[in-house]
Amino acid sequence: MKNIEPASMTPLRFDQREQRRRSLFSHTWGELIPKVFEDVPKYYRSGNIVASLGLWELWVWQFVKTIKLEPGYKALDVCAGTNDIGIRLLRKQAGISLTAIDRSKEMQEEGQVRAGKYGVHIDSIIQDVHQLPFPDQSFDVVTLQAASRHLQMDKVLPEILRVLKPGGHFYHCDMLKPSTPLVEWFYLRFLRLSVAWTALLFKSTETSKNCGIYFKDAIMNFYTPEELTEVFRMVGFRNIVCKKSIWGGMVGFHKSQRPLD
Ligand SMILES: C[S@@+](CC[C@H](N)C(=O)[O-])C[C@H]1O[C@@H](n2cnc3c(N)ncnc32)[C@H](O)[C@@H]1O
Repeated sequence: MKNIEPASMTPLRFDQREQRRRSLFSHTWGELIPKVFEDVPKYYRSGNIVASLGLWELWVWQFVKTIKLEPGYKALDVCAGTNDIGIRLLRKQAGISLTAIDRSKEMQEEGQVRAGKYGVHIDSIIQDVHQLPFPDQSFDVVTLQAASRHLQMDKVLPEILRVLKPGGHFYHCDMLKPSTPLVEWFYLRFLRLSVAWTALLFKSTETSKNCGIYFKDAIMNFYTPEELTEVFRMVGFRNIVCKKSIWGGMVGFHKSQRPLD
C-alpha cells in the first residue's frame, strides 16, 4: 500500500489524510484493536521489549526524560495502557497527581496492579479518548505515547488542547512514518518480523497474530515527524519541538504547548 500524498501538510491535506485513515482503519480500530488489548496486558511490556530488541526501554526513557514536572502539577496520560508512563512520571516527581484514561479495562486493571507494586496512586478512567471527560483547562501536562496511530487525530488533538491549561504542555511520542525511503524499507520488514516472533513467543491469540499487516499499513498512512509538527501547529499548539529518535526517525518525540490566552 503506497502513500502518494505530498509531504507538506495543509489543513486540506490533514483532512484528506484523516478521511483516508478512517476509511482504511475504522473497522480495525473499532473491532480488532480492543480485542488485541484484551489479550496483551500481562505481557505488554515484555512483548514490547522483545519486539523492539530492547529499544522500547530506551525510547520510553528518552520520552520521560523530556517531560518537565513541578510539584502540584495535574497530569493526564491519554491511552495510558498499563500505566508505564504514569508510573514513571510519579517516580520522577511524586508531588504530581496523575489521571490515566484508556478504553481497555484489561490494560488499566493491569496498570493498577503495576501502580500498586510501585506504591503510586493513579486515577483511572475507562473511556474512549476521542471525547475527554474533563472540563476545559484541567491539566498542566498531557502525555500520549504509542497510541496515536490507532486514533483519529483530528478529533483527539483538539480535545487534548482543550483540557490543557494555557501554557500547559503536551508530550507526544509514537512510531511515525519514516522521512526517508531507505529507513522505511528496513523498518517495515523489521516490523512484520517482530510482530510475528513476538506473537509466537508469547502465544498470542489469532487476532493479535493477524495485526502485522495493520501495523505496517497504520504507520504508512500515518505522519512523518515533520508532518506531525505541522499538524500540531494547525490544531493550535505552539512552541513545537520535534526530536527524531532510533534508527533515523522510526520514533518521534513532540513537545508542544497550549498558548497563553
Ligand atoms: C500500544 S498501547 C500504549 C499504552 C501506553 N501509552 C504505553 O505507552 O505503554 C495503546 C493503548 O491505546 C488504547 N486505545 C486505543 N484506542 C483507544 C481509544 N479510541 N480510546 C481509548 N484508548 C484507546 C489501547 O486500549 C491501549 O491500551
